[in-house]
Amino acid sequence: MRKEVAGLKILVVGRGGREHAICKKLNESVLVEKVFCAPGNAGIAEDAELVNIDEMDFAGLADFAERQDIELTVIGPENPLAAGIVDYFQQRGLAVFGPNRKAAQLESSKSFAKELMKKYQIPTASYAVFEEYEEAKAYIVQHGAPIVLKADGLAAGKGVTVAMTLEEALSALEEMLLNQKFGEASSKLVIEEYLQGEEYSLMAFVQGEKVYPMVAAQDHKRAYDGDKGPNTGGMGAYSPVPHLPADIVEQSVREILEPCAKAMVKEGCPFTGVIFAGLMMTKQGPKTIEFNARFGDPETQVVLPRLESDLAQVFLDVLAGKDPQLKWKEEAVLGVVLASEGYPGSYQKGVPIKGLDEIEQATVYHAGTIRSEKGAICSDGGRVLLVAASGASVEAAQQQVYREMKKLDQPGFFYRKDIGARAIARFSF
Ligand code: AMP
Ligand code: GLY
Repeated sequence: MRKEVAGLKILVVGRGGREHAICKKLNESVLVEKVFCAPGNAGIAEDAELVNIDEMDFAGLADFAERQDIELTVIGPENPLAAGIVDYFQQRGLAVFGPNRKAAQLESSKSFAKELMKKYQIPTASYAVFEEYEEAKAYIVQHGAPIVLKADGLAAGKGVTVAMTLEEALSALEEMLLNQKFGEASSKLVIEEYLQGEEYSLMAFVQGEKVYPMVAAQDHKRAYDGDKGPNTGGMGAYSPVPHLPADIVEQSVREILEPCAKAMVKEGCPFTGVIFAGLMMTKQGPKTIEFNARFGDPETQVVLPRLESDLAQVFLDVLAGKDPQLKWKEEAVLGVVLASEGYPGSYQKGVPIKGLDEIEQATVYHAGTIRSEKGAICSDGGRVLLVAASGASVEAAQQQVYREMKKLDQPGFFYRKDIGARAIARFSF
């Protein structure tokens, strides 16, 4: 019925919850005939045809795209982008959505991003870059705690230490510069001012100087309730963020995202794709914590379900330099991550997940799952899956998600019980 219009074949590259959300949304498109995902996971298999090719096997992916007459390839994760997958596809004449290697530096080099922000006066924490241990130590001692240390390169979201004491800062410094905790990625460090305020995430489709913002979301980075415990890749998220000032998205676009897109053009590396801004609402206004050169995870799983417009059309329009239509649903969406016991430290893999079939009034986005030989869905990572529900308010969505999450209560897994609490507490005052 709905597939007769254009018959597009799209390949999504990646294997996480973000890619699951992109595949699901593309399936709603009237333009799309078939979605492939490489390499995907056990849950994505329900929404796309899995292709067993690694994200970093550029030649293998491009060969597949050619052979199958794929009209568009969408890149999910940062590693292939940083390694130049887009440049490679373009050289082979294949349509691909994402920034090239040079533009992906916005994420792959924190010092590149910081220098860009300084040069173009984009609000961010004040900072300095170091490669020498003694110089970095002197800077930390001079500035005192709290202070933030960041590995320059990609470190799977784990290269940041927010040090509340001098001792913590010095021990993190030793780990990164002397002990090379993150290898090459931490041979260079950004040390920056600690920002205080409300954190939020804002993604935008970007084509050169043009910026088309999505709706804002809030992530929960710490492992345990009450924002306690170690930093993770994200334990849950929701959108909208009702306790942010109403004009904050507009201000963030005007003061941060648009100047960033313009700066990339001026620097000779125009950006095409999605820019993710991790932002802090401080007393002086919004400031940038980080830029990513791709959709965020888990933010995408709560933002894309709110998109009323056709995502495939949006990708095509952005690539063609046309203004995409972005219409958003009024509803709230909230998602909670089911994680393996022990994450973000060591954990077991291959544990069967019970209760998935009973989830009815929510959407499950798989991140680290695998189907066993007997056909059971088993864990295959630290963040296993995310359960998302929609509602008329963040509170309604939260209640719905937690009703469903109860069905997943079992040994070997855990989840935070307070996703969305900050929004709801403020709401009811
Ligand atoms: P990042 O990987 O850069 O997103 O950093 C991980 C987390 O560390 C962020 O989500 C923030 O909560 C925190 N963080 C990073 N930089 C700062 C900063 N300058 N001030 C306060 N918190 C920060
Ligand atoms: N949630 C932040 C990220 O995707 O890096």
